[in-house]
Amino acid sequence: ALARARAAIADRARRVADFPKPGIAFKDLTPVLADPEGLSAIVTALTHGCSRVDLVAGIDARGFLLGGAVARELQVGVLAVRKGGKLPPPVIAIDYQLEYGTARLEIPADGIELVGRRVLVVDDVLATGGTSVAAARLLEQAGAEVIGFAVIMELAGLGGRETIAAGLGDVPVHSV
Ligand code: PRP
Ligand code: MG
Repeated sequence: ALARARAAIADRARRVADFPKPGIAFKDLTPVLADPEGLSAIVTALTHGCSRVDLVAGIDARGFLLGGAVARELQVGVLAVRKGGKLPPPVIAIDYQLEYGTARLEIPADGIELVGRRVLVVDDVLATGGTSVAAARLLEQAGAEVIGFAVIMELAGLGGRETIAAGLGDVPVHSV
């Protein structure tokens, strides 16, 4: 599954120069996920080696595309970790630093039992790791146990893995 997913990415990911800023080469995964074989291979690869997951959390927005599919594959439910201001109250929120300014993630404070549940966090890309660490802290605040991260791509040189290790300890990071 890993080889199939990597081939799909190599074949279909679109490289966009100077986006979102000059000097940055953006990898657009849209065509990979729009392809039936690409999506299937990626979802299978994301769940590779995953066991004893109670719930999948997908991070707003591109993590949503994967979260539901990965949850279905693992036969568990999905939770959307939303950007600030999207959910009805009551919410649990966390603010975290971006390169410029701050951002907020939220989950519902009511209606889902998170205490003691083993949660796999899913997103498309791991860059600095700031978003992943914030999402994990939020889930942990609600009593969940974050048992790992699964992402399609890890951007080299931005320290995402190190930031996760520094912030959360020895939580496995699986990147396709
Ligand atoms: C992107 C990407 C990850 C995050 C990674 O999301 O989808 O969620 O950045 O960056 P980090 O590791 O440095 O935190 P972004 O919020 O830009 O946009 P989206 O709403 O399209 O997912
Ligand atoms: Mg995102």
